Amino acid sequence: MDEIIDAIKEIAHRIDEVIKMKDLGYNNSSNSSGEDQLKLDVQSDLIIENTFAKVKIVKDLVSEEKEGLYHLHDDGKYTICYDPLDGSSLVDVNLSIGSIFGIYEGELKGENLLASAYIVYGPRIEMLIVSRDTKPMLYSTRRNHFQKVGEVTLDEKGKLNAPGGTQMNWTKTHKNFVDSLFGEGYRLRYSGAMVPDLHQLLLKGGGLFSYPPTSDTPNGKLRQLFEVIPFALMYEQAGGQAIDANGKRLMELVPSHPHDTSPCFFGSNYEIEALKKAYGITK
Ligand code: AHG
Ligand code: MN
Ligand code: MN
Repeated sequence: MDEIIDAIKEIAHRIDEVIKMKDLGYNNSSNSSGEDQLKLDVQSDLIIENTFAKVKIVKDLVSEEKEGLYHLHDDGKYTICYDPLDGSSLVDVNLSIGSIFGIYEGELKGENLLASAYIVYGPRIEMLIVSRDTKPMLYSTRRNHFQKVGEVTLDEKGKLNAPGGTQMNWTKTHKNFVDSLFGEGYRLRYSGAMVPDLHQLLLKGGGLFSYPPTSDTPNGKLRQLFEVIPFALMYEQAGGQAIDANGKRLMELVPSHPHDTSPCFFGSNYEIEALKKAYGITK
């Protein structure tokens, strides 16, 4: 597993370099930004593929940028499911973005996620790593080297509210619940990239990040294997909860296709319990 962690650190520096070096075409906003971002997604995907190609214990890859399974090593043990660049539509406005990795063994489902990691490309590169029997560990870079900062734990109750999706398409129940949190004094924090948004909540003690079922996306927007399940492990191991709109633990998801999505709620205990009540979830 250490080899995989070392590979992820290498990937972090390489992708960060690409983000910083690539011409984003600020002056040609009409058509170049979409294409440039697409290039950046694909380039990040290639960096990850090439780096894991050197790690023999990695059997297969599943990427947001690839259709199906990408085979690497016959004798490998792990499948890594990843989002090479999360929030790439924010690159042109210079906001933080990220990469997410889920390390699975066996059939691709929540139960078989052994560890997960994410990278935040912000003013500094940061990384969080978690496994089934550890708390999330934060690494931050100083002079381009990762240094261990410490374990991350959620408080019982947070102060931040990060509601995703288009409000116009929320259910009445969801709208009322989000409003009730603001009514209790929660502050809005939502950039549109789940990595920095969930990172902020984790480091500031908690709150709620939601991407509910909506009328336009009844199954949510975020992908199970490389976005939802890896973050579910982070939040549970940090002492919080991660559920879908029926109260099911996201760690129990069984995708039927690599790109399947799921509605998702990540938070500290107080907000998730409040959500269950508002949604009429009894378990
Ligand atoms: P990606 O850039 O990998 O496609 O992911 C974008 C995702 C996620 O990071 C974020 O939380 C969500 O899209 C934002 O969607 P809304 O604008 O609908 O809230
Ligand atoms: Mn994403
Ligand atoms: Mn992406």
